[in-house]
Amino acid sequence: MPEEARKPEERETLPTAKRVALLNRHDRIFHVILAQQFDRETIDTLCKLAEMLRNIAETRQGLQFLKTLLSHKRAMLYFIQPSTRTFLSFAAACQILGIAYDEVRNPSVSSEVKGETEDDTVRVLSQYFNLIVMRHPKEGFAEEMAHALDALNMSIPIINGGSGQDQHPTQALLDIYTLHRAFGRVAIERGNLDFSTNRFAGKTIAFVGDLKRGRTVRSLAYLLCRYPGVRMIFIAPPELQISEDILEYLGRNEVEYAFADDVGAVIHECDAIYMTRLQDEYDVAGESKKIDFDRFHISADMTPRFKPDLAIMHPLPRRKEIDRRLDTDPRAQYFSQVHNGMWMRAAAIAYAFHMDGAIIDHYQTHFTY
Ligand code: CP
Repeated sequence: MPEEARKPEERETLPTAKRVALLNRHDRIFHVILAQQFDRETIDTLCKLAEMLRNIAETRQGLQFLKTLLSHKRAMLYFIQPSTRTFLSFAAACQILGIAYDEVRNPSVSSEVKGETEDDTVRVLSQYFNLIVMRHPKEGFAEEMAHALDALNMSIPIINGGSGQDQHPTQALLDIYTLHRAFGRVAIERGNLDFSTNRFAGKTIAFVGDLKRGRTVRSLAYLLCRYPGVRMIFIAPPELQISEDILEYLGRNEVEYAFADDVGAVIHECDAIYMTRLQDEYDVAGESKKIDFDRFHISADMTPRFKPDLAIMHPLPRRKEIDRRLDTDPRAQYFSQVHNGMWMRAAAIAYAFHMDGAIIDHYQTHFTY
């Protein structure tokens, strides 16, 4: 272990490439913490695995095979911030892969009330489990804990299920998978599992809402940079516009982007629109109350201006960002995102435990003719 991996204050100053390298083992992702860890090849593999898993699980025999893959592993879902989808999809993913899991969601019933630090709690969890999936309000905490476990010579991957306002890498992976399924629906339904096709070239993807504090937006913007030819539009109140660090990353990766004030003015250009809610849980003094957020909304009245294959997305939970009349429009992808998340998280866990080869072999034996 390089010494720099053990000193948080030094790690903060490291370039991203170095931080990424410290989270890998043998040039393969080990801890899943940052979206920047994922190159195109790994994203393509995870999408393919997710698609294979959902096909294999369609039969009792297939599901039984999947349940044997990791039945010798135990997972801890340590979720210290509220969650419905991420928690339940990781729980379901564990069940699909035969992993026994337990949860900590309420630190007030743990020994943290007796003064145990969160750091020590995670170190203790690592003594019982082979995998820790973590949601935490503090940016950087999951990364810190990944290095803390490495320093104990524990071989326990940490998967970041949402780190404050910073990152949500598995949400971004499921979003990419959903976009593939939206843009490449016919090919994928016919069994074409070649996710190396760049289905994003020439596509315009608009992000709408609280882009400053929305970790799903940040992580997805990072992943979209892996697809040359994608264009992004950021539509947000000035106080909640996308952060400079993301724009700087887009610039470095030669990604074209623009800003807009109004969804209605640009909706005709969009191939996908990614709506987000106001992240007012991060308000310090109720400052969001002063922002007119209602106009960052997509209405069913805009449908005449929609492209025929527009993908309407939202990481959920939503408030009023999406007109509920759009829920039954075939272009609405937000409930598909929820379902796709289960398969993508199962793929990410299987990959973390090097089960990708077994899944691909099983699929090729049973599904290719
Ligand atoms: N999209 C998402 O992270 O949802 P939850 O907060 O319900 O997990």
